[in-house]
Amino acid sequence: MSKDVVTEDSGNAIAGSSYGDTRHWTPSRRDFLRMLGAGAAVAAASPLSAFANNTSAVALRSRLLQDDRFWASINSMFVLDPNRTFMNIGTAGSMPKISLDIFDEENRTKARNSGSGYTNLLADRTKVAPGFGVDPDELAFSANTSSGMCHAILGLDWKAGDVVVTTNHEHPGGDVPLRIAEHRYGIEVSRVPMPVGNDQTAETYVNLFQQRINQLRASGKRVKAMMWSSPTYKTGTMLPIAELMEVAKQNELISIVDGAHLPGMMAYDYAKLGMDFMSGAGHKWQCGPGSTGILVVRNKIRASNPLPLPKWYPIHTSSYPTTPPVRTTTGTATYDIGSIITSCGSLHTPMFSALVKACEMWDQIGRKKIETYDLTLSQYLKEKIAERWGVERLYSPKDDPRLVSAITSFNPFHNAIDVLNSTKSGTFVSRMLSDYNRGFVIRNVNVPVINSQADHWPVRISTHLWHNASDVDRLVDAMWDLSKKLA
Ligand SMILES: Cc1ncc(COP(=O)(O)O)c(C=O)c1O
Repeated sequence: MSKDVVTEDSGNAIAGSSYGDTRHWTPSRRDFLRMLGAGAAVAAASPLSAFANNTSAVALRSRLLQDDRFWASINSMFVLDPNRTFMNIGTAGSMPKISLDIFDEENRTKARNSGSGYTNLLADRTKVAPGFGVDPDELAFSANTSSGMCHAILGLDWKAGDVVVTTNHEHPGGDVPLRIAEHRYGIEVSRVPMPVGNDQTAETYVNLFQQRINQLRASGKRVKAMMWSSPTYKTGTMLPIAELMEVAKQNELISIVDGAHLPGMMAYDYAKLGMDFMSGAGHKWQCGPGSTGILVVRNKIRASNPLPLPKWYPIHTSSYPTTPPVRTTTGTATYDIGSIITSCGSLHTPMFSALVKACEMWDQIGRKKIETYDLTLSQYLKEKIAERWGVERLYSPKDDPRLVSAITSFNPFHNAIDVLNSTKSGTFVSRMLSDYNRGFVIRNVNVPVINSQADHWPVRISTHLWHNASDVDRLVDAMWDLSKKLA
């Protein structure tokens, strides 16, 4: 834990703290820092190390318990309804108290002062960017993942006949701008069918994409870009960014990652990964307010991706120079692309302050620590599902660490064939909420499966920093019970 940590007796003003002068803070905000300090001490005493492949459920459980007190203190920093167990973070996160406090304060200040929001949020982007491994000019605030995907895809200089290689498990947030580009510019979209389940590795995806690029090129097509979700919203499969970036670079392609679930879940360094665009949500795993997103845009040449920057124009901005900005060919940015994207008329600045507070909280806890915990919870859940239902019931991969995320999709039905029944799948989700006193909030999702005429409807579970091993135990018991009742 850094110099910013506060101890029980560290008084009011915290010199050198990234939280600044805390004398005017509400007691709950001071509590936050105290808890973080206390939690950090627990964490330092018993660090949670990354799980190894094929670790048993029992071993994963005891690993999770080592840090139980720390994560319980983190849980208390949220205002989540204690009568429910929120396991659909892939759809919506929840702001911590520290974000709610600043949101409330700044809303009131803004209203009192009739404040405007004409800004490029450079100070905020400067605070947040290091947590994602990039410079402030390479990070824009967007409205959400979908808006970031529109910025990325619709700003590119497409020519009729350009081909984008993607998958058949994409979310409308990325698929819709691709469709608009098909209609408007005449691009073509080529989809690789996604495997499901545990029987896959990172190499599966390298081969799928490379083979498709080879086939397209052999038939005279002009492949221009790759777009994929890491992880997908259907099965939580973490399409392996580092490996797919090698394919993109070898084939001199533009790289666009729908990373809706990445901020707040994974501790990735985007400068090292080197994709052209990564569009993530601020309101899911990062637990910022709704209508916030984080868009990382490659804006200088780094060793991680020596390809020239793609030609790109902003499509949603009120800040654009009179002469077109020239994209750099060196390691030094020629302009702040994050500013151009972020500045579009008057912004509701309190939203972004609340997002920044959530990002600072994540940085203080340690993004890698959160990633490890989230993935360990999810691995624990996957192992328990494999033990009870059988590993073949998983739609998410389990054993290749390059493919795992904190999202778990599986077929919970006693009669496996019921996974084709969307109504029954919907009933499963609603009864997990209504029939169990822990009120489990999960979701289902349609999944196209290779060689299946109809989509499958597994359920999808998100595990995050406010959960513990017992939440997973209770969830699994409830799902097992319900699967028997619905047999
Ligand atoms: C993979 C993926 N992409 C995009 C989106 C859209 O997210 P947002 O609401 O942030 O636009 C989602 C939402 O769940 C998603 O899972």
